[in-house]
Amino acid sequence: MGVIYDDLKGKHVLITGGAGGIGGGVTPAFARQGSRVTILDKDAASAHALLEKCRAEGGDVHFYQVDLTETEHLVAVLQRVQQELGTVNVLINNAGYDPRYNLVEMSETQWDDLFKLNVRHYFITCRELIPGMIKAGGGSIIMTTSHQFWIAFPNLTAYNATKAAIIGMVRSLAREVGQHFIRVNALAPGWVMTERQLREMVTPEIQAKLFNEQQILPMYLTPEDLAPSYLFLASDASKPITRQTLVVDAGFAMA
Ligand SMILES: NC(=O)c1ccc[n+]([C@@H]2O[C@H](COP(=O)([O-])OP(=O)(O)OC[C@H]3O[C@@H](n4cnc5c(N)ncnc54)[C@H](O)[C@@H]3O)[C@@H](O)[C@H]2O)c1
Repeated sequence: MGVIYDDLKGKHVLITGGAGGIGGGVTPAFARQGSRVTILDKDAASAHALLEKCRAEGGDVHFYQVDLTETEHLVAVLQRVQQELGTVNVLINNAGYDPRYNLVEMSETQWDDLFKLNVRHYFITCRELIPGMIKAGGGSIIMTTSHQFWIAFPNLTAYNATKAAIIGMVRSLAREVGQHFIRVNALAPGWVMTERQLREMVTPEIQAKLFNEQQILPMYLTPEDLAPSYLFLASDASKPITRQTLVVDAGFAMA
């Protein structure tokens, strides 16, 4: 058990894509703080497995199944969550996808689909949940972007455009809602060894290059390594911090 932030106890934290990957490390971390955690995800099997694990430790964790790209359903779910579980105090927009495309071969549908998940649902959750935060006298919004914004590998042009959009959104939205004591920050993970990354992208050669040439710290980043930074940005420990991007990538990007 790491640091306990007393103010996170009883806070309602909503995380998109909270059932797996980085979310699979962040959800239990908030549950262990005594927060009420709501996961929005399309993967019911992973969510139920995580729910069971968190509840066995006494966690107050809830799951709503939704495809975050289906706006009408997402809006209805966000209204239900607030009615059933109360105002959301901490919003973590996290679900995202990083397909590789050669830009000249990419279709408009592929471009639009990527923006629907990586950007549009961030906007919808903010639009629907900020009024409740205003009434509650404040809140913390954390938007997951990526250190790729600085590294900018080829074939990730569209993905990087979505992640740049999030940094832009954070910078303006923080000004828009700061008067209500709502803080808005971005968190830029490095290459996190999630199940999907290990399955689809990472080879022993890539890992060796990561350690020996790319990261300053020769360590594998795990979802559990990311969780403390989300806790910090959610808690009053970061009370004066807004409009920032925290890069958590073992020193890879020259951010
Ligand atoms: N893993 C990395 O190395 C890395 C690096 C930098 C940034 N990021 C960012 O971190 C965030 C999380 O990435 P991850 O690696 O944990 O991804 P992941 O694919 O491992 O997990 C994503 C979660 O979101 C859910 N999800 C995906 N699409 C959804 C949809 N349409 N509707 C509902 N739920 C959906 C999945 O079911 C899963 O639980 C993303 O925004 C990603 O761009 C990841």
